[in-house]
Amino acid sequence: MASRKLRLRIIGLLVFGACLTSTGKPNAADTDIIAAEYRWVQSQYAAMLERILPPSLEPAQLPEPASSGAQLVARYCMQCHYLPNPAMHSAPKWASTVERMVWRMEGKGNLGKSMHELMAGVRAPSSADQATLLRYLQRHAQRELDIKKYADIHTPAGRIYSIACSQCHVLPDPQRHTAQEWLPVVERMRRNLAWANRVTGDAAMRTSPELDIVEIVRYLQRHARVN
Ligand code: HEC
Ligand code: HEC
Repeated sequence: MASRKLRLRIIGLLVFGACLTSTGKPNAADTDIIAAEYRWVQSQYAAMLERILPPSLEPAQLPEPASSGAQLVARYCMQCHYLPNPAMHSAPKWASTVERMVWRMEGKGNLGKSMHELMAGVRAPSSADQATLLRYLQRHAQRELDIKKYADIHTPAGRIYSIACSQCHVLPDPQRHTAQEWLPVVERMRRNLAWANRVTGDAAMRTSPELDIVEIVRYLQRHARVN
């Protein structure tokens, strides 16, 4: 894929540039982060690993980018796929996801068995780093819609929203965004869906594989945050 080649070239240049800093001593943390992604992007599994998570943020765009939590996420969580966005999952979901990811970093699971070369360079966080990392993700997490507060979640519009938008993460609280903000977010989610290439399992949705953007946006805007 052309964009991957370009990315590779940019990453290559960054690595090269980092080696040529005026002091002659590249910042260790920065080169770690660059190396983290470089490992899988240039591996023979790149096409498969690329599909796990869509590209979202660059490390510098993470919330509180200078915090130790953000730096740990950038160092450990780009070793096998793109940088995960902390806003993707709710706090409880991050606890179980991070646990599963650390398990993978320790060389367990399919990746460990089938990808010896790729996995050989993977580092796992200490338990103290793991706690910092989890606290950070949870601090910037998604908030789940509380169904007790949304009586209309059982109407056809509410159902379309809840079926379409809980496939990859918890159903987001509509109060997260203003009416104006929701449209581009939903557009981006349609691209995320195309990226993941997931097929919806629900029979009611199968007749209309396209997300019903208009209906979903209308539902979200009805409950959106007021500015
Ligand atoms: C050793 C490789 C590896 C590392 C390092 C890794 N992951 Fe993953 N990740 C995977 C694989 C494989 C999948 C797809 C299978 C799965 O979901 O378990 C995945 C999927 C994901 C997903 C999408 C699935 C879901 O549950 O939403 C998220 C989010 C994620 N990882 C977050 C993280 C975070 C956060 C870190 C850093 C703490 C991390 N990953 C580090 C291998 C890795
Ligand atoms: C194919 C998986 C997938 C589906 C389906 C999906 N999302 Fe997401 N969602 C993601 C990923 C990946 C992220 C983190 C990256 C990003 O923000 O693009 C995310 C993040 C979010 C966020 C937090 C980021 C922000 O900008 O506020 C919200 C809110 C959200 N999704 C809403 C929705 C809505 C609404 C729908 C239904 C139209 C939806 N999602 C469907 C994958 C998905």
